Amino acid sequence: MAAFIVEGGYRLTGEQRVSGAKNAALPILAACLICPGQVRLYDCPKLRDVENMLAILTALGASWRQDEDGALFLDMSTATGHTMPQRISKEIRSSIFMLGPLLARFGRAVCTYPGGCEIGNRPIDLHLSGLSALGVRIREESGLILCEGDAMRGADIHLDYPSVGATENIMMAAVAASGVTYIRNAAREPETEDLQAFLNVLGCDVSGAGTSNIRIAGGGWRARSAVHSIMPDRIVAGTLLCAAAITGGEVRLSNVVPQHVGSTLSKLREGGCAIDCGEGMVRLSAPPRLSEIKLIETLPYPGFPTDMQAPFFALATVAEGTCVVVENVFENRFKHGPELMRMGAVYTQKDRTAVIRGVENLTGTQVTARDLRGGAALTIAGLKARGVTTVYGAELIDRGYEALDAQLRALGAHITREESL
Ligand code: EPZ
Repeated sequence: MAAFIVEGGYRLTGEQRVSGAKNAALPILAACLICPGQVRLYDCPKLRDVENMLAILTALGASWRQDEDGALFLDMSTATGHTMPQRISKEIRSSIFMLGPLLARFGRAVCTYPGGCEIGNRPIDLHLSGLSALGVRIREESGLILCEGDAMRGADIHLDYPSVGATENIMMAAVAASGVTYIRNAAREPETEDLQAFLNVLGCDVSGAGTSNIRIAGGGWRARSAVHSIMPDRIVAGTLLCAAAITGGEVRLSNVVPQHVGSTLSKLREGGCAIDCGEGMVRLSAPPRLSEIKLIETLPYPGFPTDMQAPFFALATVAEGTCVVVENVFENRFKHGPELMRMGAVYTQKDRTAVIRGVENLTGTQVTARDLRGGAALTIAGLKARGVTTVYGAELIDRGYEALDAQLRALGAHITREESL
């Protein structure tokens, strides 16, 4: 098990370029299956989840290479399979994103129930009901999901909940349906807009992403190749800003879309940070101790993002006053709480609500990441805590952050990585 070793008490200062977005790259890598030729992706982040998606594409017959500046070149012409490799697809949630593109390309798809972080049940009923509405015949057999969809037709689909993954899966399948598909109550996360942009580069006709109503004109695609740059990662940006904020630091981030981090910036300003934004840039200067942030309530975009809940939970443990955190999106996303309590955090929790009373400081100790964003939160807490914090489970953090220790070290953090402790 790998671990981050963090010596607390050092202000973060300096500049950092934010990487491409994991949650845009994963559905776009799946959508590459729709293309019968070559795809070039720029700014694809170097993450474990991306590596797993590439392994799935390889198992389905595609090939890929990466050039020295990180651009990905994929050859999708050799993709033939429609059955997902079980071992890998169980490991990551994003394997479910393959259903739509496999149905679009091959009219068939077989996959297992997806894996992912232990932050909740992670059902896929909205994915399957949306695909069924397109005429896909779905049956489940010994843990496999078998889909037949060689004659998909457009439909008017209303999602009970604006699920990001379900929205994206339906978008990718509907491009091959005959006729027009509407997705109502669609997720509005910016990553759906990046997927729309990629599908349209493939010659599809998708519009409305970023709003609650998305229109997909079916009938296939014309392009035999595609080039696309992945949008910036708004959660990595928010995480780095929180890391600077907890240390009373001052940082400048580039490759950021300020409006994508609007709710995060609003809460950091409430905590007393001075923030200014420019074209693709955010600059933050934090006070020695954050002021009270009264309420963090996670909601679908453009509400406060659930992926930023854990980093702000860490901020709140040492801010002034009391912070109420309500996690509306996932039912089990406070696993970082008990680990932070080991560092001296003071909070109570009932169901999806935690009430955190800020203390002067935390004390470094050994803690364990239980999920991706919780691991980032523990690392952020270690940047502030007195003494040394060892964050076990750095492999989980690798799922969503490119060498988070190196990024933080570049800003002045005293952090190293130890393998196989
Ligand atoms: C995506 O997960 C992201 N992952 C998550 O990021 C993110 O937290 C989440 O969207 C919300 O923004 C990727 O994009 C790869 P949902 P997804 O479907 O698609 C329920 C991270 O840390 N639901 O919007 O799985 C579900 O249980 C990860 O980067 C159903 O009930 O999220 C949850 O309560 C974590 N039925 C809620 O909807 C379904 O069929 C939101 O899930 C699907 C979802």
